[in-house]
Amino acid sequence: MRFVQLARLLGCCALGIAAAVLLLSGAADAQGGKVLPLPSEKVSPQAQAKGYAGPQACVQCHSEKYDDYRASGHPKKLRPAAEARAWGVPLPEGWEWDDISYVVGARWKARFIDTQGYLVTSTGPKKDKPGKNQYNLATGRWVNYEAGKKLPYSCGPCHMTAYSKAGNQDGLPGMVGTWAFPGITCEECHGPGAAHASAPSKTNIKVDKSPAACGKCHIRGAPDKIPAGGGFIQHHEQYNEYLAGPHAGKVSCATCHDPHKRAAVSIRKQCADCHPSQAKNFTGSKMQRSGVTCVNCHMPPGGKSAEAFGKYVGDVKTHIAKISTNPADRMFSDDGKLATGKLTLDFACLACHGSRDMAWALANAKGIHTRGK
Ligand code: HEC
Ligand code: HEC
Ligand code: HEC
Ligand code: HEC
Ligand code: HEC
Ligand code: HEC
Ligand code: HEC
Ligand code: HEC
Repeated sequence: MRFVQLARLLGCCALGIAAAVLLLSGAADAQGGKVLPLPSEKVSPQAQAKGYAGPQACVQCHSEKYDDYRASGHPKKLRPAAEARAWGVPLPEGWEWDDISYVVGARWKARFIDTQGYLVTSTGPKKDKPGKNQYNLATGRWVNYEAGKKLPYSCGPCHMTAYSKAGNQDGLPGMVGTWAFPGITCEECHGPGAAHASAPSKTNIKVDKSPAACGKCHIRGAPDKIPAGGGFIQHHEQYNEYLAGPHAGKVSCATCHDPHKRAAVSIRKQCADCHPSQAKNFTGSKMQRSGVTCVNCHMPPGGKSAEAFGKYVGDVKTHIAKISTNPADRMFSDDGKLATGKLTLDFACLACHGSRDMAWALANAKGIHTRGK
């Protein structure tokens, strides 16, 4: 990626590092604040029978929540082909819109589902070349995802509202299970809301502020391990990372985030609100004046969903948060398959200071918030 190469070439030169600050702060958000059209909010008769009313039933009384949610990623998980086409995402080589039933993803990457409900894994003029089937939104690159495999859409438990293992959505053999809505709507978090919408009360709607409620989906594998690969933490592991970090059991996801909002605008408690002494010390330092933030060092993009922009720059921010200055610690296990739960200085510092090494980082990182400016 241009910015990182620039930063490396220029070493500690302010211009190069400033480019890296920009990159770490913004480039991962391909959606760029645009309000994408929302997938259909139709309520199926089956969903109605289970007490679901659909987001439209909440608007008249909770319009502010609805507007926030509408601009966020949660409802946009799986969009019918016609809606994805209107949004403008390109198709893999050899595929026409008539061959596509749904598109998965709108922020980091898009994957495509054929008219039988299977993920597209082969492309090319005859649709027989494995790979080039995932479109990375930040760069417009086509990359390989499970190239050539016969891959059912078994992703519903974490992507859909009111998922049930039984049956096949739309009667398509590749769709494992059924759901009420193709995305995460109000009622996936708050439970079926028809009764509440007709007679509003706190007693007929669920509110769960626990990290585990978010961890139902923002998790990979067992909660006490952090799966990794290719030099990065894998994506959708916020809960695994959080449990390894200092906020576990002390600060909930919903304390820092307004769960109705896009990540970039969702933070309602800033780091400085709870860590005033570090914030006071950092304010006025050269880095702070250059635009470096708490999140740049403590939550660098050590995870990867679609693209890596440098050796230590992925596209998903880590929630481990506590930076290790123990030189014996490593970010990953020897085989690279797990993150250790330690956030090391390669990711915290060298992502920007590409021309420096770990010894330099260590010497400058220790006691960083007790130093003068
Ligand atoms: C006719 C107006 C109305 C509609 C429609 C409505 N709500 Fe409410 N909602 C309310 C009111 C009023 C309260 C506050 C109840 C109270 O304080 O006793 C509330 C409270 C809530 C709460 C907070 C409960 C708590 O324990 O603090 C949630 C969550 C909620 N609504 C979600 C929804 C969802 C989801 C929908 C759509 C399925 C919906 N509401 C539709 C009026 C409505
Ligand atoms: C049913 C599964 C599920 C649950 C429960 C869930 N999420 Fe998500 N979340 C997702 C998925 C899938 C995405 C990716 C959406 C996308 O494509 O942008 C996501 C995206 C996000 C994002 C980035 C969205 C953006 O627009 O920038 C944040 C922040 C987030 N979730 C926070 C939370 C919090 C906090 C909770 C708990 C209150 C929670 N999530 C509960 C599945 C879930
Ligand atoms: C990803 C999960 C998630 C989704 C999706 C979601 N909510 Fe919430 N909602 C929460 C959580 C967690 C809380 C409690 C934390 C808080 O106060 O924000 C909450 C709180 C609320 C409250 C009470 C807020 C207050 O200030 O007391 C209302 C009302 C509400 N949600 C309505 C909605 C509506 C309407 C939608 C859809 C348009 C929706 N929510 C979508 C997780 C979610
Ligand atoms: C354990 C829950 C879980 C499962 C299972 C799961 N996902 Fe996801 N997925 C998420 C969450 C949470 C996110 C957003 C957060 C993140 O990526 O860090 C996400 C993000 C994505 C994205 C990027 C979305 C965007 O807007 O760019 C795609 C594409 C995706 N998943 C595809 C799949 C496919 C295909 C499957 C099934 C083969 C699947 N996922 C299975 C939880 C899950
Ligand atoms: C709602 C309050 C709250 C917010 C917001 C918050 N923290 Fe924390 N943080 C805590 C608590 C409580 C602890 C655990 C007790 C402690 O060690 O201070 C903690 C611990 C930590 C630690 C480990 C401290 C140590 O001495 O080992 C670090 C590092 C940290 N937080 C960084 C951050 C960063 C960076 C942010 C912003 C992204 C942030 N925190 C936001 C409350 C908060
Ligand atoms: C330039 C990178 C960088 C920035 C920016 C940064 N920190 Fe830190 N922070 C560190 C390092 C490195 C440590 C570990 C220091 C040590 O172990 O001696 C640390 C330690 C901490 C700790 C643990 C207690 C301590 O003082 O050692 C907290 C809490 C913390 N930072 C909060 C913050 C907050 C809040 C901000 C934003 C106002 C922030 N940090 C900005 C690098 C940074
Ligand atoms: C101490 C505060 C804090 C806690 C606790 C916290 N987050 Fe975050 N989270 C943040 C900050 C800060 C960001 C970066 C927001 C931005 O893009 O500016 C973030 C970003 C995210 C993102 C988007 C990642 C990306 O790179 O775009 C997701 C998804 C997310 N958080 C989910 C969660 C979930 C799920 C939990 C609980 C398991 C959680 N967060 C707990 C502060 C927190
Ligand atoms: C987001 C990018 C970024 C990250 C991450 C980062 N820095 Fe910096 N750093 C900068 C910028 C920008 C400057 C200012 C460059 C200039 O004007 O010379 C700077 C300057 C410095 C300086 C010289 C000025 C001073 O304040 O003494 C030191 C030392 C330094 N950084 C150490 C670190 C350490 C140690 C870490 C990791 C704990 C770190 N940086 C993480 C961007 C970053």
